[in-house]
Formats: sequence, structure tokens, C-alpha cells
Amino acid sequence: MKIIASNFKTNHTRATTAQFIHRIDKFMIDDNITQTVYLFPPSTALDSFETNQNLHIGAQNCHWVKSGSYTGEIGTQQLDEFGIKTILIGHSERRHTMGENQKDIAKKFNYFKALGYRIIYCVGEPLEQKQAGLSSTLGYIQEQFGGIDLTYDGLILAYEPVWAIGTGISCGIDDIATIHKKLAKKTTAPILYGGSVKQDNIKEIINIPNVDGALIGTASWVADDFVNIIKFCN
Ligand code: PGA
Repeated sequence: MKIIASNFKTNHTRATTAQFIHRIDKFMIDDNITQTVYLFPPSTALDSFETNQNLHIGAQNCHWVKSGSYTGEIGTQQLDEFGIKTILIGHSERRHTMGENQKDIAKKFNYFKALGYRIIYCVGEPLEQKQAGLSSTLGYIQEQFGGIDLTYDGLILAYEPVWAIGTGISCGIDDIATIHKKLAKKTTAPILYGGSVKQDNIKEIINIPNVDGALIGTASWVADDFVNIIKFCN
């Protein structure tokens, strides 16, 4: 059974998020979709959504606290209000744009692991490492496993090459297969691929061995498109 996740990033409002979730939930019920679907709206749009048992709402980010003085952050008090128990950690935009380092990412991972959250943990190499070859890519990813428990049973790993995110240029099928095979030797957790997954490449990507699903940004933000992507994977 494949896992399909949509990361809204800084898109959608509270109103359009609610419409989106309602649309996906209805489609999943009507079409008997049994795959697991995760949606990560912006934190201002989180709410207590009633969804079918295969549709889960997660947080794109949360600080490693219940509450306190952390301007601009949210804590688990804010997630608990809506019963949210899924979080995205290590996304390349948090690493490379917001400057989160591996030490802090591991601290965050371990905080949420101790609370039993489902964690989608993202790794992936920048273009420089990709161009330097496979061992450079694998070495870079290995560093992103620093302080991370790959045996955690709430873990879902996501391989997302930085250069493929939001660029429209997905990683080649053979390269995805190679990396996922290596990652599957390190963990029994499901491994998603992310980076310019869209309607016209999802079928091919989802059928690669050791690809257990997809984490999708841009191509998932229109509900009808996301519905098609889920259909292709079913
Ligand atoms: P993209 O983003 O689908 O727009 O490439 C993927 C991601 O950042 O998870």
C-alpha cells in the first residue's frame, strides 16, 4: 500500500485548506481509497478536521516544546488542540532556507519520537553532491542520519534531492531506484520519493522498487490534481 503526502508549504489559506481537506476526504470515501494520505497545511490552517481513517493531517514544523517563549514558533500545546500527531522534519527548505542544522533537527526528531509522533523525515543532497557522484550523495545523506533513530516505528523516510524540489526536474528513475535501494538497507521504514513528482511521472515513480510512496509539493496544491495523483497510485 502506497503512502501519498502533500506538503502545502506556504500555500493555501484557512478557508481553502478546509475545502481541500473536505474534497480529498470525500473522494477517498467515494472511491474506496485505502492508501494512507497525509496533508501538511500551513500552521495557521490547522484545525480539528474529521477525516476518514486513512487521511491524516500533519504539521509542517513545530518547536521541541509544549509551550513557552519562542516567537514565531508553535509547540505541542498548539498541535494537541487539534489532535495532530504527525510532523514533517528535516525538509530541505527548513535545512537550507531556514538554516536548521543537523544537531537541532535531531533534537526535534527525538523530542517528537519520545511523544510517539508519526515523523516524515526528509533527506536529500544538493546539486553539488549529485554532480560529485553517488558516493558523495550517499555520504551527504548519511550525515543527515546523524542523531536519527532509523529503527523508530513511527518513522517514514522521504528521499528528496534538493535540486529536484520545486524545479520541475525530477530525479531520474534509475537514480531514484539506486538511492532507495541503498536507503532500504538502512531502515525498514517506508521510503517516499519527493522532488517534482507530478501527474505525468507519478505512475513511473511509484512503481520503482523500494519506493513506498511520494511526498509532493507544487503538483498537489490543486485538489483535482492531487485527486488524480492518488488515483494513479491506487
Ligand atoms: P515539489 O516539492 O513537489 O514542489 O518538488 C516537494 C517537497 O518539497 O516536498
